[in-house]
Amino acid sequence: MTRSRSEPAASIPDSAAPPWKRIEALRSLLAYHAARYHEDDAPEIPDAEYDRLMQELRELEAAYPLLARPDSPSARVGGRPADAFATVRHDVPLLSLQDVFSESDVLDFLRRVRQETGEDPQLVVEPKIDGLSVALEYRDGRFVRGATRGDGLAGEDVTGNLRTIRDIPDRLTEPISRLVARGEVFMAPEDFEALNDRAETLGEKIFANPRNAAAGSLRQLDPSVTAARRLRCCVFNIQQAEGAAYDTHAESLRLLARLGFSVIPHIRVCQGDGEVLDAIRDIGEARGTLPFGIDGAVVKVDPISLRTRLGQTTRTPRWAVAYKYPPEQQETRVSDIRVQVGRTGKLTPLAVLEPVRIAGSVVSRATLHNEDFLSEKDVRIGDVVRIRKAGDVIPEILSVRSDLRPANTVPFRMPRVCPVCGAEAVREPDSADIRCTGADCPAQRFRHILHFASRDAMDIDSLGPAIVDALLQAGLIEGVADLYRLRDKRDRLVALERFGEKSADRLLAAIDRSKARGLDRVLVALGIRQVGVAAARELARRFQDIFRLMDASEDELRLIQDFGDITARSVVSFFAQEQNRSLVRRLAEAGVDMASHMLERQVDARFSGMTFVLTGTLPSLTREEASGLILERGGRVAGSVSARTTWVVAGEAAGSKLDKAAALGVPVIDEAELFRMAGLGMPAGPDRPAAPDRPAAPDREAGS
Ligand code: IVH
Repeated sequence: MTRSRSEPAASIPDSAAPPWKRIEALRSLLAYHAARYHEDDAPEIPDAEYDRLMQELRELEAAYPLLARPDSPSARVGGRPADAFATVRHDVPLLSLQDVFSESDVLDFLRRVRQETGEDPQLVVEPKIDGLSVALEYRDGRFVRGATRGDGLAGEDVTGNLRTIRDIPDRLTEPISRLVARGEVFMAPEDFEALNDRAETLGEKIFANPRNAAAGSLRQLDPSVTAARRLRCCVFNIQQAEGAAYDTHAESLRLLARLGFSVIPHIRVCQGDGEVLDAIRDIGEARGTLPFGIDGAVVKVDPISLRTRLGQTTRTPRWAVAYKYPPEQQETRVSDIRVQVGRTGKLTPLAVLEPVRIAGSVVSRATLHNEDFLSEKDVRIGDVVRIRKAGDVIPEILSVRSDLRPANTVPFRMPRVCPVCGAEAVREPDSADIRCTGADCPAQRFRHILHFASRDAMDIDSLGPAIVDALLQAGLIEGVADLYRLRDKRDRLVALERFGEKSADRLLAAIDRSKARGLDRVLVALGIRQVGVAAARELARRFQDIFRLMDASEDELRLIQDFGDITARSVVSFFAQEQNRSLVRRLAEAGVDMASHMLERQVDARFSGMTFVLTGTLPSLTREEASGLILERGGRVAGSVSARTTWVVAGEAAGSKLDKAAALGVPVIDEAELFRMAGLGMPAGPDRPAAPDRPAAPDREAGS
């Protein structure tokens, strides 16, 4: 197949060339080499050379933020991705199962089996684990390769990750020459909850259910991440075996157990319709007590010889079906609606229910998710609702029995203040979530403190989750400002369980060191929504001092490069909260440095008091870029020429504005002149004196 290839960029102009020319050339060169690397698997330059070019582009873009573009190769997260997993072809396809949804469908299946075989065979009923199917290959008793199911014919080689799962033996108890076992990788419900709790605390991605968590964990490029996730695996089928014999499925499972595998529990060998249906019902009742989520029960023909006779379709075997349990539903009354504040500050409405038993447990509350869900379902206090337990875990409200709605109910409105701390609660842009904006909100304390101490923020090493938890439990701190008063409580700190003099002093020293990080890091640490590392740096550079920033207006903030309405509003609303202002004051009183360590741009005000009018097409800058360049330096840009115009910047095909400028005596300049005036040097031309200014060096952080 021929692939259209972009041409390599022309050579990079030398360092005297105008920066935008170099930036443009670097971008197309990097894009070209990235394509050779990713699409053709045929890089033309060494990685180190690629990295050097990228570094130069990043430095230039940092020095000329006006020329930054979201589609620049430098904006690609992580640069070249790590190699993906290799593909593994399955010698014996990993089939899926035919689903059935009623007991009578199961009986139909059993009738068909008897008809086609002319026998009344034994059957095995097993739980159907809701996880991720894998094939595990052993040679001479050693685990050599493991792969995901993929499309059934070929999957991904995840051997390294599977080796981290303790249920999967590295060496079998017998050196069978070749064996491929099939099993399900899953995450136990309690491990899933712990993983999500931790992710929520750290503000990381939350998994929707244990299955997704298992899949996400198994497909990690770094096996140490998989290892930390506590995955488990149960096997339920032999795909291929050389050097081992068995006549029935039950026997094959006993063999797998003897070889050292964790075999699927709760299996039952049955004879006749009644026993099969009983076994299915029993598994259904055991649902909540199993170490894995299930999404059904599998009924399999036991004798291997009959399996061979029954055969398979392209996708599913004819010797098995998966029975899917109906999700259990109940009706109950909503006695109250409460709003909880999560550790990330998210306000979640929660229905308090009159307790009902459903799918083996008593349910007394159900999440109403968010404002949109609430208004769509229109759940009100006093309503009778139909609920179901989805995936055995979270009770879900399906619908309101509006026919049973009592008189005088009112729609529930989500509050706009945090029910825990009283700070303003705002709806997130492009989301249905409402969040508390209080930086000192007790509901978010744990997470705030961890965030405050994190590497990009105040970088207080040794202040991890366990210590934060211990400090809060012992009442030694209530919020981040108290960290800076811990020194006065050193005795109590030393007395904490598993602490001692050495760790106490190490922690106190780390807290002391954090005081000098500077304004940009304090701004990250405060956790203002929409303000990440880059925005914090920009704010620090512009305002130099937190107290100036605290009183900035939205208009002032919007002028900053890359600050849209949303970021500007978020900053203003953050500092409008008394709670947040008081936190800043307390931090400052404790000795936290609230000044910027970054040099303010020297060029900021050079166009102040000047009004520019742009006309025609400029050789290299778009109209937005030219306006930005002027605004950044304190100038104004107007749409039409008047007596108040200071300069007209004219490009190709300039129109009537030039005539107007001439009539009013307004001087006309070209792009090159604009660059020169802006302090962005131009190359020396034949009829032009050498550019006086070299481009301003990238701002440097003091001490780095
Ligand atoms: S038997 C040919 N048994 O369910 C053998 N599958 O829809 C077919 N699964 O991706 C599989 N528990 O990974 C079998 N006890 C069990 C199972 C089970 C879970 C999964 C399997 C497959 C899916 C089929």
